[in-house]
Amino acid sequence: MKRHPVMAGNWKMYKTVADTEAYLLQLIEQLKSFPSLATEVILCVPFTSLQAAMRLVQTHQSRIRIAAQTMEAATEGAFTGEISAVMLAELGVHAVVLGHSERRQYYNETDKTVNAKIKSALQHHLTPIVCVGELLSEREAGLTDTIVTQQVVVALEGLSAEELGLVIIAYEPVWAIGTGKVCEAQEANRVIAFIRKTMARDDVRIVYGGSVKPDNIDGLMALSDIDGGLVGGASLEVGSFFKLIEATEQAAQAHENATLTR
Ligand code: 13P
Repeated sequence: MKRHPVMAGNWKMYKTVADTEAYLLQLIEQLKSFPSLATEVILCVPFTSLQAAMRLVQTHQSRIRIAAQTMEAATEGAFTGEISAVMLAELGVHAVVLGHSERRQYYNETDKTVNAKIKSALQHHLTPIVCVGELLSEREAGLTDTIVTQQVVVALEGLSAEELGLVIIAYEPVWAIGTGKVCEAQEANRVIAFIRKTMARDDVRIVYGGSVKPDNIDGLMALSDIDGGLVGGASLEVGSFFKLIEATEQAAQAHENATLTR
């Protein structure tokens, strides 16, 4: 089953509009060295940067896709401080991160609210990038598979077969996020294969997130079930994010060659 690789940078609460413009101009320029890019490159930027980022990728006809980092499930209403799928769609935003562990930890996001948000995102033609992953205590208690199954099953409940095919899943073990402790590649691949089996869908793209860096990306991308990365820290600097895109692209090429010679 051929799945297009994804390299997504999640800036979290970093970068002003001016920073966003400077970064994107550099990345757009660097990506010109890849006239035909197999990797889907996504940048998840703060709300305040969405419009400027969209304007730049449109003006330069770049294939970089812009995503938001969260949204509210309701389309409008008395939800002070929130942003809806309608508002994101109006800007031409491509995707939205839902259920990130930082949203779960600090803003009470649950599998149930993630489910409602996924449905609203899909209704407005936004690609949901749905984050799942266990806490360190859950891993140590041997509960990794149970936790990710519950997260995936509840978050995706009620989606049609067609809708399921549009979702991107990010397996982000919480203990690996921002800690420098990357999940061992074989183990990340195992959990990702397990999630895909739980979903009973070969075509769904599942990426890994948690301390992905230029020096560990090759080992991750070499494995068959890992379709790319959702990257925090290493996406903040254009040079290192570009290296991650290059590595993803090379891995895609290697998989393609392996399939052709089989
Ligand atoms: P780091 O790459 O900084 O560990 O963050 C991962 C993440 O949370 C991406 O969403």
